Amino acid sequence: MQEAALRAAGLEGSYRALETPPPFLRARLQEIRRDYAGVNVTIPHKESVLAYLDELSPEARAIGAVNTIVCDRQRLIGYNTDAPGFISSLDEAGIPYRNKKALVLGAGGAARAIAYALKEEGAHVAVYNRTLERAQALCKALGLHLVSAPLLDAAVHSCDLLINTTSVGLQDPLSSPLPEGCLPRAGAVVDIIYNPPVTRLMLEAQRAGLPTLGGLPMLVWQGALAFELWTGVKADLRVMYQAAQARLAEALQP
Ligand code: ATR
Repeated sequence: MQEAALRAAGLEGSYRALETPPPFLRARLQEIRRDYAGVNVTIPHKESVLAYLDELSPEARAIGAVNTIVCDRQRLIGYNTDAPGFISSLDEAGIPYRNKKALVLGAGGAARAIAYALKEEGAHVAVYNRTLERAQALCKALGLHLVSAPLLDAAVHSCDLLINTTSVGLQDPLSSPLPEGCLPRAGAVVDIIYNPPVTRLMLEAQRAGLPTLGGLPMLVWQGALAFELWTGVKADLRVMYQAAQARLAEALQP
């Protein structure tokens, strides 16, 4: 997807995965400082990488997680494009969120970015997580409403927007983060998982006649925003979508 965007913009360069076990993170960042225009950061480094950066965008600081680093004259600057990328994916799909009741399932790095973005955009954000303490910490840090297990059913039923940020359903079309039949009465259901393209949660929501959105648009939007930070050039979203869809189709081949 990034290499397709580079080609479309007439820019040289490549994008590749640099497998980095946690003990090697510091050394990897030294290499990046020397040799790279920028990188994306993913599991499990999105939070721990903050300690090694020279500068943070205000959003990355507030969220406490970085998914994009720009190397500017050997200085490492951390950004979070998951947050605006998620909002752009809702806008593109015509899913409303301003003044709406949003319920975020999960309390990891992705949940932090999404909850922050929704709150900034004027949604009323509540969080439910399997491990209550993690949800409590997130709610305290960002000023969100905490949903405990006994109140989950009611919170799901009454929300306008339900977002799954947990890994339940990832590469598993049979698992859902919610019990069967536990769905919003009328709200939209978003799953940030993109493999499979339709998760169990989305399928159940579709059967109940609810609008749904999978994770591919967020993936593409956060990537396009990262591309723009690295290159200063607008990303060709259509080309990025095509490349991401083609790669996903390959990955889904039996
Ligand atoms: P990310 O940065 O992608 O958000 P993460 O920080 O590992 O990844 O967070 C994963 C989220 O999925 C957490 O909210 C986790 O819940 P816990 O805090 O209780 O671990 C949630 N999760 C993972 N497996 C789960 C499962 N089987 N049931 C419910 N929630 C699960």
